[in-house]
Amino acid sequence: MAALILKTRLAAELAPINKALDDACEALPAPVLPIVRHILNAGGKRLRPFLTICTARLLGHDRDDIYGLAVTMEMLHAATLLHDDVLDNAVSRRGQPAAHTVFNAASVILAGDALLARANAIVAQFGNPALSQCFSEATSRTAAGEILEISCMRRVDLSEAEYLQIAHGKTACLLGESCRLGALRANASPGEVRAAYDFGLNLGLAFQIVDDALDFAPGEQTGKPTGGDAREGKLTPPLRLYRQSLGHAEREAFDRAFANGTIDEQMAGEIAKSIREKGFDHAARQIAGEYLQKARDAAGRLPDRPERKILLLMADYVGAREK
Ligand code: IPE
Ligand code: IPE
Ligand code: MG
Ligand code: MG
Repeated sequence: MAALILKTRLAAELAPINKALDDACEALPAPVLPIVRHILNAGGKRLRPFLTICTARLLGHDRDDIYGLAVTMEMLHAATLLHDDVLDNAVSRRGQPAAHTVFNAASVILAGDALLARANAIVAQFGNPALSQCFSEATSRTAAGEILEISCMRRVDLSEAEYLQIAHGKTACLLGESCRLGALRANASPGEVRAAYDFGLNLGLAFQIVDDALDFAPGEQTGKPTGGDAREGKLTPPLRLYRQSLGHAEREAFDRAFANGTIDEQMAGEIAKSIREKGFDHAARQIAGEYLQKARDAAGRLPDRPERKILLLMADYVGAREK
């Protein structure tokens, strides 16, 4: 029943979100359009604009102009996905071939830049520097998180704190800023803006940890390759637990392959199977649960209106999501 309330609300917001996305992208230069349409039309959960909309509504903004603002977060997200799949050499996204495998990588990177610029221009039209700062903060922190991740790749000694710093930058900040954007648009008080950001940030940390658990789920379920993180040399929570569970000789072999980047698809598949069998994906979800609790606490600092229930349901959804 509770999940149905969230599903219904998400479904109701989907059409206006997609319409606003189409409108926003119409003005893109012609060479950019096919690449942008490839990623946007492939689906996606549209969670980031949904967060902006719910936060703005929760804090009293009732105008329809929220859609135009909210989709800038999805445009930023789509640009980071275009770039991310080039960086990660990923072959699929949203159940479709990754854009750089259809178009070429250089064009895809430039299309991502054009998308960012268009979104930036839309935010600027609202004439509020605080909104523009939100957008710019989300963009630069995501990029910084991706760079930090690259610098930590293939390190078996990556600490939990370092992992969290990466997740914070590459994923959580964007969710935090999505909520902050809605709160700022609603002219919320500084305390409410902070609570909205804290909610999104902690939701985002949990979101990335669950995503890392889902990395070992079958590709048909997630629309992304299985075990990509093992192949790419990212020591995520389920992979760390897996490594810790290995005996001395096995661990040495794993460390060598991980550090040398020689984990192939077959080995990644075996690791994924073992992670599922030993329940390390489930254990990672429990770690995510700690951040979901922090997110719920932050939501408790927001007004008690129907949208707060939606945000709380989002926290449940993030902990349980299967794709
Ligand atoms: C994928 O995000 C990238 C991460 C931050 C893990 P989503 O899982 O929200 O992707 P879409 O938008 O639904 O495709
Ligand atoms: C997620 O990166 C964050 C960004 C896309 C910036 P990942 O590389 O962990 O996410 P997936 O698994 O490709 O969606
Ligand atoms: Mg990736
Ligand atoms: Mg990546």
